[in-house]
Amino acid sequence: MEIRSATDEDFDVFVDTVHAAFGLFPGTPTDGGGLWWSALEKDRCLLARAADGRPVGTAAAYPFELTLPGESLVPVPGVTAVGVLPSHRRRGVLTAMMRHQLAETRDRGEFLSVLLASQATIYGRFGYGPATYTTKLTVQRHEADFAAPRARAAADTESPGPAASSEDGSHDGWHDGSRDGSRDGSRDGSVEVLRRAECGEILEEVYDRYRRTRPGALSRPHRWWALRAGQPPISPAPRYIAVHRDADGVPDGYASYSVDSGTLTVDETIACDDTVFTALARFVLEHDLVTKVVFKQVPPDHPLRWQLADFRGGKVSDESDWLWVRLLDVPRALTARAWFTDGELVLDVTDPFLGEHGRHLLTVRDGKADCVPTDREPDLSLDVRDLGSVYLGGTAPSTLVRAGHIRAHHPSAAPLADALFRTDRLPHCLHWF
Ligand SMILES: CC(C)(COP(=O)(O)OP(=O)(O)OC[C@H]1O[C@@H](n2cnc3c(N)ncnc32)[C@H](O)[C@@H]1OP(=O)(O)O)[C@@H](O)C(=O)NCCC(=O)NCCS
Repeated sequence: MEIRSATDEDFDVFVDTVHAAFGLFPGTPTDGGGLWWSALEKDRCLLARAADGRPVGTAAAYPFELTLPGESLVPVPGVTAVGVLPSHRRRGVLTAMMRHQLAETRDRGEFLSVLLASQATIYGRFGYGPATYTTKLTVQRHEADFAAPRARAAADTESPGPAASSEDGSHDGWHDGSRDGSRDGSRDGSVEVLRRAECGEILEEVYDRYRRTRPGALSRPHRWWALRAGQPPISPAPRYIAVHRDADGVPDGYASYSVDSGTLTVDETIACDDTVFTALARFVLEHDLVTKVVFKQVPPDHPLRWQLADFRGGKVSDESDWLWVRLLDVPRALTARAWFTDGELVLDVTDPFLGEHGRHLLTVRDGKADCVPTDREPDLSLDVRDLGSVYLGGTAPSTLVRAGHIRAHHPSAAPLADALFRTDRLPHCLHWF
């Protein structure tokens, strides 16, 4: 089998092979290589050919930046377009492509790789572990009253002011929060509804501000936005965009949504801070002729449920893994992210797919880590895929100890690892690729 990068000449062959592997990719335009696929860089598109020259498999990578805990930005390949022709499956084509791609990633000096998995059974063997999670939050409009923020109410009690309100959220002023932020802790701002085509560079700029501060978020290359101009960020179906602006008129958030049979579905809410998210949530929850609002792609720890007067008014469902992470250089990866608790941990890491093994002493002081080889007794022994799962702080090491995947060598090892890997904010990714 031969694996090499696609060229201008055989890019259509690459696209045809992806489509055949997926049984026609949903909603993908197929003419001229397809708008969607033309966002890829050809030298990162691998085409596998059988001995008779027939194209049988594909794997590609977008050049993304990933935000690590502590807001450091690192280049990562976003693995995509992975497919093998139905006639050639279970013969090791994907395995060969993964090996080739990981070697290329290392050659480029990148030390992490990320992907979204169509099935959770495919990528663990290649060293990837689920690292961020996402949920759907559904709010019936009749249960959508916001509670008075108790911290705010306490402050008001201390210094008498106009915003005293009842615990059940029945204060009639709360519904104006998105336009008058003085009462709900949000800054003054405004929301305007635009069609996607009217948004110009706004979405790209707001998304870029947001993703730089959110651990687990990925950049969206300009080329990607440019090629999909005039379409919504995720789906080709028509969407409205509610753009939030701060008091100076600067856009700092948006919600991309559609309304169908009384259900308003928000595909993605991008907000530079929590108060902007709240303002956008209030806006869509006040939409006339809507009985239910579905927020897709919400981080599992999002406070919106807690902001409702009726805690059960926000129904969380469809929790699933989103971004999978693979470490290719353990010391570089561990020293690239920020840490929030001082401590020391010896990690014995095996990488069965690449046939590698290393024992690392991780020392954290003042938010920075040092990671050096050691022959000290390990605190934890783990597979590189499990290190990928805990790396961004979205999965507690103790969960994987309890699941029987990480071995803790003494009783305090798991709590110590939990404390060390914990981040100031849970990672979240909502970019689909
Ligand atoms: C997933 C896919 C790329 C696998 O390709 P493949 O060439 O058959 O994979 P390999 O032969 O290299 O398989 C390697 C191992 O993974 C296992 N494996 C592969 N695909 C699997 C799947 N979908 N579920 C469970 N195990 C799978 C194989 O059984 C094999 O296990 P083994 O090493 O214990 O024998 C192929 O089935 C495909 O194109 N599926 C449809 C498109 C798709 O889902 N792509 C992934 C997008 S994220």
